[in-house]
Amino acid sequence: MYSRITGTGGFLPEKVLTNHDLEQMVETSDAWIRERTGIEKRHVAGEGETTCDLAEAASRRALAAAGVDVAEIDLIIVATTTADKIFPSTACLLQKRLGIHGPAAFDVQAVCSGFVYALTVADKFIRTGSAKKALVVGAETLSRITDWSDRSTCVLFGDGAGAVVLEASDEPGILSTHLHADGKYDELLHVPTGVSQNYDAVRQGRAFMEMQGNDVFRFAVRTLGKIVDETLAANDMKKGDIDWLVPHQANIRIIAATAKKLNMPMERVVVTVNEHGNTSAASVPLALDVAVRDGRIQRGDTLLLEAFGGGFTWGSVLLKY
Ligand code: ACO
Repeated sequence: MYSRITGTGGFLPEKVLTNHDLEQMVETSDAWIRERTGIEKRHVAGEGETTCDLAEAASRRALAAAGVDVAEIDLIIVATTTADKIFPSTACLLQKRLGIHGPAAFDVQAVCSGFVYALTVADKFIRTGSAKKALVVGAETLSRITDWSDRSTCVLFGDGAGAVVLEASDEPGILSTHLHADGKYDELLHVPTGVSQNYDAVRQGRAFMEMQGNDVFRFAVRTLGKIVDETLAANDMKKGDIDWLVPHQANIRIIAATAKKLNMPMERVVVTVNEHGNTSAASVPLALDVAVRDGRIQRGDTLLLEAFGGGFTWGSVLLKY
């Protein structure tokens, strides 16, 4: 028994913030942002627009693409760092919106690696026969935890959602999944406030992302290189066997380093960071949806999905589309 992606969907808020807009907000330049990150613009949720709103729109598109009715879904997993409420989970809120009653629904929190984590969990549910049709979503409103006066972080992030329908299948499907974490690096990339710690800052609207960008960059490049090797070795594959790299979209230089490790030309790498910025858990499913809808990714192609994020967490999924 395999699990197979049968439909993808994506959604971006209407409001766009360009690098030139950011030049009016902090001391930065379009040239600096493009050169260091590859980002040109990002989408930002409107007033009152929530992670669940984005998740719902992406989910409905994925369900339509798969030709699956909401009533058939028997598992919902939402990867997010920016839940609508402390509880219930955004997965439960999404379940309510979709009018699904009964099946398991829960959130996964692995920051930018969240979708890779969620897809791995859903794959295991399906392979063990615990679910047949899962809705797996990555959705974020990182703009709400961005310090818009801090130029070292505010130029990097954006909002959005991506979703897939994952179904039980005799044909592959997901071939292998690889998850890792090392919590000792928590302070290099974090929001230092939460419910049981520094909650006053949350109340006062001062819960913002903080990052040691240089350290994160070095660790991400090294770690993603290693996970490429791990994934190929586990499947007895060579570098040339991968048709498409669908990476987490944090920085074009990190993406290019992973592509180089795979000896892949950039034409075989799905890049959306220029248009979306870093949308954390939404970035991989959004990139996947873009390349499926524009016809680059075809049925039968071999895809390597990978991500790195706060925790640190990192992981990969190798699959036949
Ligand atoms: N505009 C202009 N100058 C800036 C800006 C800006 N927006 N931000 C920083 N600078 C300045 C710095 O102050 C520094 O100036 P100095 O030399 O006078 O001190 C100079 O630019 C260089 O700064 P660096 O931090 O060394 O720049 P770097 O080339 O490392 O790029 C970046 C920074 C883009 C953040 C990079 O380190 C990066 O992409 N890191 C990884 C991010 C990532 O992958 N995160 C993981 C996922 S995110 C998640 O999990 C939520």
